[in-house]
Amino acid sequence: NGNYTVTFIEGDGIGPEISKSVKDIFAAAKTPIEWESVDVTPILKDGKTTIPDEAISSVKKNLVALKGPLATPIGKGHVSLNLTLRRTFNLFANVRPCRSIAGYKTAYDDVDTILIRENTEGEYSGIEHEVVEGVVQSIKLITREASERVLRFAFQHAEAIGQKEVRAVHKATIMKMSDGLFLSTAKEVAKDFPHIRFSAELLDNMTTNPNLYRDILLVMPNLYGDILSDMCAGLIGGLGLTPSGNIGDECSIFEAVHGSAPDIAGMDLANPTALLLSSVMMLQHMGLNSHADKIQKAIFDTLAEGRALTKDLGGSSTRSQFTQAVVSRL
Ligand code: IPM
Ligand code: MN
Repeated sequence: NGNYTVTFIEGDGIGPEISKSVKDIFAAAKTPIEWESVDVTPILKDGKTTIPDEAISSVKKNLVALKGPLATPIGKGHVSLNLTLRRTFNLFANVRPCRSIAGYKTAYDDVDTILIRENTEGEYSGIEHEVVEGVVQSIKLITREASERVLRFAFQHAEAIGQKEVRAVHKATIMKMSDGLFLSTAKEVAKDFPHIRFSAELLDNMTTNPNLYRDILLVMPNLYGDILSDMCAGLIGGLGLTPSGNIGDECSIFEAVHGSAPDIAGMDLANPTALLLSSVMMLQHMGLNSHADKIQKAIFDTLAEGRALTKDLGGSSTRSQFTQAVVSRL
């Protein structure tokens, strides 16, 4: 029927509500997508908590998924299912664009950056143990292979979109070996892209000035990308606005940068923009550019007009009212 099937993981907390916004808007835009909703309620397998096989096989079959936030227990309990998904499908690059939204004013105007985060290792390797009571070690794992893979991806991405500068973010002054390896690999990979300007900057220096987020592509190890992407979101109006794509060689999973926001779950207050823009990234990834453009324009026009803003953006509209405002532009 000329349709594409995409796996939909609605997620926890505000997940089902913001997922409904995506479904309603895709339907209104007559997007040729059929959703295959899968449940990712954690299951116990070989003594480990993981995602159901049915969800895994759906993503394997469809190759593309859109995903709402999955709640992660703090300090104890099972490993984050978000990470399980990234690892299961070897989604090695996490692409997090962050651009100021025309018409939505914050203290900082022209933020325009793409942050690319290594997505499989670093402090997220999950290798931890207690040496003796009161002393624990968490291993930050950095390999040349994973570093090179994400760095090459970053340069290729820059090339594809005409971005002239790639900057590696690191802390090789302190983490001389691990970040040192990431940085030296970056310098090597940069040689293969002589027409792209390469620079490197210390992580802490990158938090000092919003002007550092103009017209640049940043690439960095996993944890730094987690933190800096939230900070970037803060520059443009918060986590309600920033999308992401977890990209692998075969499958890709698109999701908002934010979490499940249990404090406002079920209250129709959540801003669905981040998941919507993630779905726009997904359409672009699938080559459905005219559908992507149409939906993106409707979202940006709604935000710029400013009459249907949700609470996080200083408005008083509900999620449904915002969604309806977008739908009415399609
Ligand atoms: C993100 C999230 C995840 C992360 C959590 C939910 C595991 O914060 O996508 O940035 O830390 O990567
Ligand atoms: Mn995060």
